Amino acid sequence: MDSLSYEEKYPDAVMPTKCHLEKILKGQKALVTGGDSGIGKGVAAALGEAGADVVVNYHSGEDGAKEIVNKICNAGGNAYAHQADVSKEDEVLLMFQQMFHEFGTIDILINNAGHQKDAPFHEMTLEQWNTVLNVNLTGQFLCAREAVREFKRRGVVKDISCSAGKIICISSAHEVIPWAGHVNYAASKGGVMLMMKSIAQEVAPYRIRANSIAPGAIRTPINISAWKTPESYNELMKLVPYNRIGEVEDIGRAAVWLASDYADYINGISLFIDGGMTLYPGFSAGG
Ligand code: BGC
Repeated sequence: MDSLSYEEKYPDAVMPTKCHLEKILKGQKALVTGGDSGIGKGVAAALGEAGADVVVNYHSGEDGAKEIVNKICNAGGNAYAHQADVSKEDEVLLMFQQMFHEFGTIDILINNAGHQKDAPFHEMTLEQWNTVLNVNLTGQFLCAREAVREFKRRGVVKDISCSAGKIICISSAHEVIPWAGHVNYAASKGGVMLMMKSIAQEVAPYRIRANSIAPGAIRTPINISAWKTPESYNELMKLVPYNRIGEVEDIGRAAVWLASDYADYINGISLFIDGGMTLYPGFSAGG
């Protein structure tokens, strides 16, 4: 069984591969928080492929960050890794200063770094609550604030983009779907939704766009227990009408488009990329 490839094990779980990312982000400078693994890694790779220069932030996954930096640089792009805890204000300030020193400015912020610390609600510790809220929500606030300060200072540079800057918050289907056993996580993502929309409303007049991507079940280490065995995979598919798990490339491709001028009139939305997880699949045969 173990000798089978992922595609052989899950023949319906195949994502289309014929998809080309042009260099539509050429000349743009991007920062991806938590770019060393999972969705962040996929988005960093896609931005690099689309021609952006990329800062790959990581907290403890130095190897993953370096791997993606090498991938981008070997393909002729420009990238470097930066260690910082996004929940610490001084570390965030330093990361942006370093980026301005290396790349001159920022055009795209991918607010991705996130944690899950699951527990039944009555057993959830304050530490589990605080860690998740500090990284998932406060971390996104700190990074978005620094990005907006720079976007406002610099304004639109027409040859680069018709927008003064783009923020993409990586949220979750759980910004709207309640999630028992994950109260801290769902609360943080619900917070991200209204933080993003309020930022978007406030800074739109400066031609700054803020949006979220709200992924469903994407095949990453964070949710490995939900897809690693055929039994758990089949259980998961009961929640996904499209009947395949998402891949990080599904998110990467959408992030490139959302950050590009093709999406210039899109501001303050959550783009759900979830194979229909938010369509109340339980109602397909009931109600
Ligand atoms: C979580 C995953 C989960 C998915 C769908 C994501 O935000 O991080 O663990 O599989 O939502 O429930």
